[in-house]
Amino acid sequence: MTHIVTASSSTELTKRIRLAAEDALTVLRPEQVPATPGQLLALFEDQVAVSTVVLDVTPGQMPVEQAIELTRRLCSHAGAPSVLLVSDEPEAIALAAMRAGGRDVLTPEVSIEELRAVLREAQEMVGYGTASDGSRPEQGDGRVITVASPKGGVGKTTLATNIALALARTSPQGTVLVDLDVQFGDVAAALDLDPSYTLGDVATSAVPDIIGLKALLTQHPSGLQVIAGVRSPVEADRIDPRLVGDLLDVLRREFRYVVVDSAPGMSEETLTALDHTSDLVLVSTLDVPGIRGLRKELDLLSELALPAHTRHVILNMVDRAGGLTVDDAEATLGVDADLVLPRSPKVARSTNQGVPIVELFPSDKVSQDIQSLVTRFAPLSSRRERRLGAHRIWGRS
Ligand SMILES: Nc1ncnc2c1ncn2[C@@H]1O[C@H](COP(=O)(O)OP(=O)(O)OP(=O)(O)O)[C@@H](O)[C@H]1O
Ligand SMILES: [Mg+2]
Repeated sequence: MTHIVTASSSTELTKRIRLAAEDALTVLRPEQVPATPGQLLALFEDQVAVSTVVLDVTPGQMPVEQAIELTRRLCSHAGAPSVLLVSDEPEAIALAAMRAGGRDVLTPEVSIEELRAVLREAQEMVGYGTASDGSRPEQGDGRVITVASPKGGVGKTTLATNIALALARTSPQGTVLVDLDVQFGDVAAALDLDPSYTLGDVATSAVPDIIGLKALLTQHPSGLQVIAGVRSPVEADRIDPRLVGDLLDVLRREFRYVVVDSAPGMSEETLTALDHTSDLVLVSTLDVPGIRGLRKELDLLSELALPAHTRHVILNMVDRAGGLTVDDAEATLGVDADLVLPRSPKVARSTNQGVPIVELFPSDKVSQDIQSLVTRFAPLSSRRERRLGAHRIWGRS
């Protein structure tokens, strides 16, 4: 039995939550919320697992700063629940809430159906994070998720950064993103980071052990660890592509999720990453050169004797402008697209702000689709597996 804790004195809001909740519900007045996450979770120790905490920050309830700080501490706590905030101005606090690890920001007028869906989703997310059970990944069992495409500018970095951030929310200290676009990597810009060290400090002579490597990582406010791309193409020349495999091995032993962004095409670094990849995310836009390029890449991949991995085909920036349909693309590719993402001005805005869309606009359709993609990488809880049976857990939008 799991538990939802709500901090609110609003009878209207708590009534809705009670109607939407499938789990037991405890309602605390904001002033009853203990000062530390440990104390909050200890309230329910040995009785039930707290799956979700709902913090009401509308006027007269918990102050926003206190709620953000509590969210941050709850989300970095072993056994972390999903945290939802309720605000009159969701857009104004969404960024801070997401950076703190919050799962969503709702308005007080949220419908019971939507609330039910959000609560269910929040509870499911708790089933499989490092933080949810406090456990470390087994030696060598981290998943390596490589995002690749034959052509440039199709959204690899956008997807890699968003996937990594979404995974970091389930496993804040267990996710690392590696920028293997050696010449022109821009992961640091996409995450608004100013790294002290880059891939150039990691993969030049010998890959350090994990203790040495940890000192060279850049931490994003979400907890995501990043190995940023080099500062200049000159620095890129110093990188030994043969060391990329060693690097991924070291990371895979330490982190639950290793997300790799790559350069367009099949660079030596990308080929090495593919040799270590458990999940290959292939991206294309919906245009003839892009789809033909992806078709060639699929053929090439089937010729390479790569270790077993799961493939995920994503069509990105899809609109009607080019006249090509998803069916046309699938016919040429010979495989179904696993996810179709629309062209969205919010994605471009998020790139320009250095804040991935899953953080900046968590309720946007693109963010939701990326979240559902991420459930493919996370080990499903047995409860969720049972409920989903053999069905695909996500599909074309
Ligand atoms: N679904 C989308 N809707 C609108 N714009 C998008 C979408 N996906 C990506 N973009 C935009 O397209 C541009 C290129 O994206 P991105 O840098 O992720 O591509 P890339 O494949 O990594 O490029 P490169 O091969 O040069 O590294 C960015 O400005 C990004 O904001
Ligand atoms: Mg890129």
